[in-house]
Amino acid sequence: MTDIVVLGSTNMDLVTYVEKAPQRGETVTGREFRTIPGGKGANQAIAAARAGGDVSMIGAVGNDAFGTRLRSTLEHSGVDTDDLRTVEGPSGTAHIVVDDEGGNAIVVIPGANGTLDHLSPGDEGVIASADLLLLQLEIPLPAVVAGAQAARRHGVRTVLTPSPAQPLPDELLIAVDLLVPNEHEATTLTGRTDPREAAIGLLDLVPEVVVTLGAAGSLYVARGADPVTVPAPKVAPVDTTGAGDTFVGALAVARGEGRPMREALAWAAAAAALSVQREGASASMPYRPEIEARYA
Ligand code: ADP
Ligand code: NA
Repeated sequence: MTDIVVLGSTNMDLVTYVEKAPQRGETVTGREFRTIPGGKGANQAIAAARAGGDVSMIGAVGNDAFGTRLRSTLEHSGVDTDDLRTVEGPSGTAHIVVDDEGGNAIVVIPGANGTLDHLSPGDEGVIASADLLLLQLEIPLPAVVAGAQAARRHGVRTVLTPSPAQPLPDELLIAVDLLVPNEHEATTLTGRTDPREAAIGLLDLVPEVVVTLGAAGSLYVARGADPVTVPAPKVAPVDTTGAGDTFVGALAVARGEGRPMREALAWAAAAAALSVQREGASASMPYRPEIEARYA
């Protein structure tokens, strides 16, 4: 099994479904409300564990009911939560209003995630014991940098999902092995709208880049090699939330097992295709046997 450590966010998504979102000063009656465990860190951890990785999560939840549920959701999918801290105060929440045209408006309150501005004693040892460290940008940047640098000191490879997209400091980039933006993030980071040009531009910053292209699959570029495009299986999408996290989690497992990049990308695409055919983010993430069947 691949040893994967995820350093990142946990959030409870508080999702309100309404015909039309209210304007300022307006009150409307919505149709439905759901609480859905999420956060990019937790989602990647769940995706990787279900795909067959041996996964630990470094993060923080609040000492509230959401924190208890976020922890048990991770554990249910087989994620080791020994290094998931419970801190005083609320868990991270994302307040999401989804309208009938599928548009959404989101307010994120970092809560416990905001306390993760440094590594704790013991985190470096956990990172050192892994094959791969998965990072995103939903916790304070100093902790992301510290995690990447700890990985570098111990020869652990790092995969960064640059979401939410923001300028990346050199001290982080120097410790990143693989960057996995979606098209929008690749454009934000480079100012280039063509994914291939954006991907090649990002090679100035890191040695390997995978740009995810939604239904069009993914594009892989590495220094000194020809770009590779790997298509996604053709499926009818139901809910693409978390597709990118499913893709990254599965890709990490496949790479950790030593699969060549092209094969790992096809395997990750199989996992992500399964997840988009079902409702929900983490709830829709496939387990290894399903991925193997879809990939075969
Ligand atoms: P994000 O979810 O971060 O916005 P993408 O939309 O690029 O990222 O999706 C990530 C991956 O999920 C894609 O590379 C692809 O493999 C898969 N995927 C997303 N949408 C679809 C779709 N409609 N059909 C099949 N696969 C999809
Ligand atoms: Na889904």
